[in-house]
Amino acid sequence: MAQIIGGLGTSHVPSIGVALDKGLDATPEWKPFFDGYQPARQWVEEQKPDVAVVVFNDHYNALFLDRVPTFAVGCAGEYQPADEGWGPRPIPPFQGAPDFAWHLVDTLVENWFDPEVIQEIKVDHGLQVPMELFWGRPEDAWPVRVVPIFVNVLQYPVPLPSRLYHLGKTLRTAIESYESDERFVVLGTGGLSHQLQGARAGFLNPDADRQFLEDIATRPDELAQWSREKYVETFGAEGAELIMWLVMRGALSPEVLVRHQHYFVPASMTGAGMILLEEA
Ligand code: DHB
Ligand code: FE
Repeated sequence: MAQIIGGLGTSHVPSIGVALDKGLDATPEWKPFFDGYQPARQWVEEQKPDVAVVVFNDHYNALFLDRVPTFAVGCAGEYQPADEGWGPRPIPPFQGAPDFAWHLVDTLVENWFDPEVIQEIKVDHGLQVPMELFWGRPEDAWPVRVVPIFVNVLQYPVPLPSRLYHLGKTLRTAIESYESDERFVVLGTGGLSHQLQGARAGFLNPDADRQFLEDIATRPDELAQWSREKYVETFGAEGAELIMWLVMRGALSPEVLVRHQHYFVPASMTGAGMILLEEA
């Protein structure tokens, strides 16, 4: 059977991608941010996972308000990067893992999750930026296949944090019942604190961000019990994207090894954090 080797959590701020495109990663402003990802880059390089399940939200680039799936699973063979207004980024398309993706859809439905099934879609910075942070920028092809799980965190009603944690547990069931010897890693993306609009635009909460990086490893059951409103109050309207990390955490064992974590504030308007959790 397939196995899950670990989880990666990270912010997915679009300007990180722009910094990489412009070769700014070694500048004094950005270097401390990118240096924080090196241990995780090395772990990915050593472990060479076959498939990355990437939990993220589209930001109205591929899905607009005319159709807002609460959950959607990408079952495509390939995902082109979305052009978010600066022109197409010089990164290769992502190869999908449709066979596992269909098994995941089956497992979800059998466990009372009914996702939209997507066979053609572009992927925005929510997936592009985490992939490049952990795998670097390949010349021709990404060395890992991806299964995107899209979560609506923008248009209310968004799903409950507890539901996302449970989704992660069902994702684990799917991986562990998949007949293959492939090794899986799960990525939770978004956050940490930021609010891009409204009266609290510019809101940051570094203390809460640092606490979250501790608690996601050791007290995920408590984080899963928080209300959606508490996420918005604590992390900002867009910082509440953090609930997607609960899918990653739910997919892992209760006891995990924290191999690395890093926090840098601000990247653009966001408290930018990452964590690498390994199955014990
Ligand atoms: C920013 C952060 C995000 O997570 C996002 O999706 C868009 C913008 C920002 O800080 O600029
Ligand atoms: Fe976002």
